[in-house]
Amino acid sequence: MKERMLITGGNPLEGEVRVSGGKNTAVAVIPAVLLADEPCTIENLPDIEDVRALVDILRSLGAKVTYVPGEFMTIDPRTAEGFQIGYRDSQRLRASYYLLGALLGRCGHAEVYFPGGCEIGARPIDQHLKGFNALGAETETHGGRITAMAKELTGSDVFFDVVTVGGTINVMLAAAKAKGTTIIYNAAKEPHIVDLANFLNSMGAKVKGAGTDVIRIRGQQYLHGANYAVIPDQIETGTLMIAAAATRGDVVIHGCIPQHMEALTAKLLEMGVKVSDSDDAIRVRTLGAHRAVNIKTQVYPGFPTDLQQPMSALLTTARGTSVIQETIFEQRLKHLNEIARMGARVRIVDSMAIIEGVPQLYGAPVTCTDLRAGAALVVAGLMAKGITEIYEPEYIDRGYEQIETKLRSLGADIRRESFE
Ligand code: EPZ
Repeated sequence: MKERMLITGGNPLEGEVRVSGGKNTAVAVIPAVLLADEPCTIENLPDIEDVRALVDILRSLGAKVTYVPGEFMTIDPRTAEGFQIGYRDSQRLRASYYLLGALLGRCGHAEVYFPGGCEIGARPIDQHLKGFNALGAETETHGGRITAMAKELTGSDVFFDVVTVGGTINVMLAAAKAKGTTIIYNAAKEPHIVDLANFLNSMGAKVKGAGTDVIRIRGQQYLHGANYAVIPDQIETGTLMIAAAATRGDVVIHGCIPQHMEALTAKLLEMGVKVSDSDDAIRVRTLGAHRAVNIKTQVYPGFPTDLQQPMSALLTTARGTSVIQETIFEQRLKHLNEIARMGARVRIVDSMAIIEGVPQLYGAPVTCTDLRAGAALVVAGLMAKGITEIYEPEYIDRGYEQIETKLRSLGADIRRESFE
């Protein structure tokens, strides 16, 4: 049976909601446990499809995994003998490729098929392979599969040609137990990079400089067990902030890190949205009209590409013309064609979108094309007049834990139904 989401728009979101743990940190920290020589327990994991996929993958390698959704995940890597990830498992998520760095670091051998994940551009992995080669690993891609092998990994300098979150994470994983020191130049600085470094260090790794563009990793022979709670999800926090503004509501988001949200907060304030922070909560209200603004996606701490799509929905009814420049991924504006079905006035020129504000969106049947496109359609449905049917909502389940429950608790009229 297929599912669709039904939203009757127009209800202002009001009340308090707690954000879940971060998807993009969870999918890096879970594979990292394979580097440990003792069991680890991870808390604050979001119960989403990508996390469940990694549980299956670690079990397929022979690790013992106890997973209590919403509570904890304990992983004992000592029984993991495997080094191959099958095609279907590799395809289930983008982050399956972190098993390359983790297995290289663990046993010097990894075979993973090219990953799945959102179709938002070419998403090559040349920088990952460049990093592995610098550490002394042989890499080969053949038959859709990536093989990485190394008798011994030796620390080295890695200078990334582009800032890459995945590449930075994969090299950190491979370098954690390499012989000697690895220095990553032009490293990504996202919050989940810092979170992974903190987790690795809690196991006894020696990672310095995460959050800057130079990360130093001094390889360690032995990594002990650790108990660790991942950081809250920066993109879920931002999506909820945008939904609160889009419905002219008044919402307090608890359990977030306001400092991670600064680029979005600045843009919302520029639009005339009221945003106030406390140490672990953000309140979003709208009193007057929303002004059009321009968005240019950048690597952290710039405006996150993952929030570009939900933000574009909010901009469809701002007063004036907004321009979005998507500089990270070359095909991340497709969702606007779906929102145009709801009355948005949008023109796409290469990786730029020109959005002319209209007074109102109207409900329509629309289809998700990727995870954050799905989030954008939910925002559009919440603000539209009438009923919006969202098809392929399983994309949204990959990155948002119980999104309907959270939005319903804030007054949204949103539900899911099966259909033939
Ligand atoms: C991670 O993807 C996130 N996914 C993405 O979030 C996020 O949009 C992206 O980082 C940027 O923040 C996960 O963490 C699982 P990149 P990743 O490597 O690692 C180019 C979501 O919605 N590049 O930083 O794939 C690449 O083509 C997802 O949660 C190379 O050229 O992103 C892109 O243009 C979507 N060669 C740019 O770098 C490489 O070897 C940034 O990609 C690697 C990347």
